[in-house]
Amino acid sequence: MVTNKIDEVKRLLLERIASSESPREILKAPELKALYDEISRLPVAERASFGRSVNELRTELSDAVETVEQSVQSKSIQPLDVTAPWQAGGSKPDFLPMIQGSQHPLTMELEEVIDIFTRMGFEAIESRQIDSDFNMFSALNFPENHPARDGYDTFRTEEGFIPPAHTSTMQHRILKQGKLKLEAGGDIAAISYGRVFRNEDVDATHEHTFYQVEGVFVSESATLGQMLGTLRGFFEAYYGQELKIKTQPAYFPFVEPGLEFAIEKPAALGGQPGEWLEMLGCGMIHPNVLEMAGIDSRRYRGFAWGGGVERLVMLKYGIDDLRHFEAARLKFLRKFA
Ligand code: DAH
Repeated sequence: MVTNKIDEVKRLLLERIASSESPREILKAPELKALYDEISRLPVAERASFGRSVNELRTELSDAVETVEQSVQSKSIQPLDVTAPWQAGGSKPDFLPMIQGSQHPLTMELEEVIDIFTRMGFEAIESRQIDSDFNMFSALNFPENHPARDGYDTFRTEEGFIPPAHTSTMQHRILKQGKLKLEAGGDIAAISYGRVFRNEDVDATHEHTFYQVEGVFVSESATLGQMLGTLRGFFEAYYGQELKIKTQPAYFPFVEPGLEFAIEKPAALGGQPGEWLEMLGCGMIHPNVLEMAGIDSRRYRGFAWGGGVERLVMLKYGIDDLRHFEAARLKFLRKFA
């Protein structure tokens, strides 16, 4: 008779569980509690087996609850279409905002710069973002302890590596690799572009992180005139107009002679006649730099230049503050999208 009671409660509660969306509450039903209360009222001999049956019932009900819970949950998870432009799970498509990303202006312009030099016949190599004292200074003819080393505000890691302060760190590698090409009768013509780092106070014209492009050309007959022609050709292609250029002497240990190269600010970009903008450093590669890379400086000669990318871009678009580039402000970035 008592077992009948268990069957009755079982039927009743299983039915309720099966038709409930949140069945866990049913495990606390008074009918089940009543069965537990019953145990103590039974003759001692019957208590153990009745108690066991009630426990079994509880386990069975609790399994049933879990089954229902799982199926409710799986119904609420919809297959996710990651290509759909709307929110998953909505009854009607709720379109996501369709804002497309775009290239950073510096990336865009750097690609333009690379494109121009590539069309002139230069191979383009990305510069390293961590380098050695050797490539930063010694390979570029900076004597040990020479004050010119201080001019570069270099960062250093605790291990003594250097996040390069100029892309000239790539010159030695380019020369060493190009040596075979020279000996096979060819020329070395490469640019190296990438991020450089300086320990500087940041203001409208100084950043701790910026971009440079370096160029190296070596042949049996390279001349300063070829260098000026190459650079003028580049600037005229980049700004899409004829330009006046001028140079003045400058000291860089890795070139002799060393020059600063300036262009006259074009009227179309708000320039006045006679307003010169210094764009980069350049010169004839110092014989020591060639020799250091195993290149015979009596037979071969070369020119090199290096300059900042931000400066180019700022002039082209009339940007007044270098800090815009790293500020991640969408209002600024979207002007270039
Ligand atoms: N590395 C120099 C700087 O960052 C720029 C430079 C000057 C590069 C003369 C050259 C060069 O290749 O020939 O200030």
